[in-house]
Amino acid sequence: MSKNADDLVRIIRDRAGDTDVRFGLILGSGLGHLADAVDGVAIDYDELPGFPHAGVSGHNPKLVIGALEGVQVAVFGGRSHYYESGRADAMRLPIEVLKGLGAGSLIVTNAAGSLQPDMVTGSLMCLTDHINFSGLNPLIGEATDARFVPMKDAYDPDLRQALLDAASGEGVDLDQGVYAWYSGPSFETPAEINAIRILGADAVGMSTVPETILARFLGLKVAAISTITNMAAGMSDESISHEHTKAMAPIGAAKLERVLRRFLRDLS
Ligand code: HPA
Repeated sequence: MSKNADDLVRIIRDRAGDTDVRFGLILGSGLGHLADAVDGVAIDYDELPGFPHAGVSGHNPKLVIGALEGVQVAVFGGRSHYYESGRADAMRLPIEVLKGLGAGSLIVTNAAGSLQPDMVTGSLMCLTDHINFSGLNPLIGEATDARFVPMKDAYDPDLRQALLDAASGEGVDLDQGVYAWYSGPSFETPAEINAIRILGADAVGMSTVPETILARFLGLKVAAISTITNMAAGMSDESISHEHTKAMAPIGAAKLERVLRRFLRDLS
């Protein structure tokens, strides 16, 4: 772990206490309010040197450490995307810090467009796998052999099953599928959507994949859930915009919060 991450872990433990965190949670567009549900200590990203500015509206740029449903968690209310800085490893420091806080697992959430006609706006999709359609990688430049990260079962089958069980316990439909990472910030063209659908993607978005690669690199287990905020370009007459994403995210977010709470409750 970098010295910067070690220093931040010390700062955070001084503020939030020494209890190890079990799970990290990265919140996607329109989902940031979940950070406020945690009974704990909130630290603005601005107070954590090297943390992203999380300058995308709809995010909640603070780290909250505390208990959610009796489980010690670290909730990242905002993320940095590749398209903000041109750095695919923009989330490396926060994920290193998560590891330093003791976490063994990371749950990533995002807003995404659907490529499946029957996976409509408001649906939730648990990632079974991903397609790195960007060709970028957060580990480019990493000098150690640890950079050769195996990516089979990158989305941990046991965590996925636990999330599916939690969803079914809550009566929430949780689809499963493959997420494709598109760099953004422009949305995809209909031809690109057609291409990635043929390649095997079920949903598309501008995040998550680099975070999953980094977390696997650091030895964290990963699970990820997309909230479908729109049908992908060319699949419906629906308009696609960031405003639309933010407006639609709460439909899935309410269900996502129930699933995550149930998942954590069942653990504790
Ligand atoms: N494409 C990429 N990212 C997204 C989309 C989309 O259609 N919707 C929400 N985030």
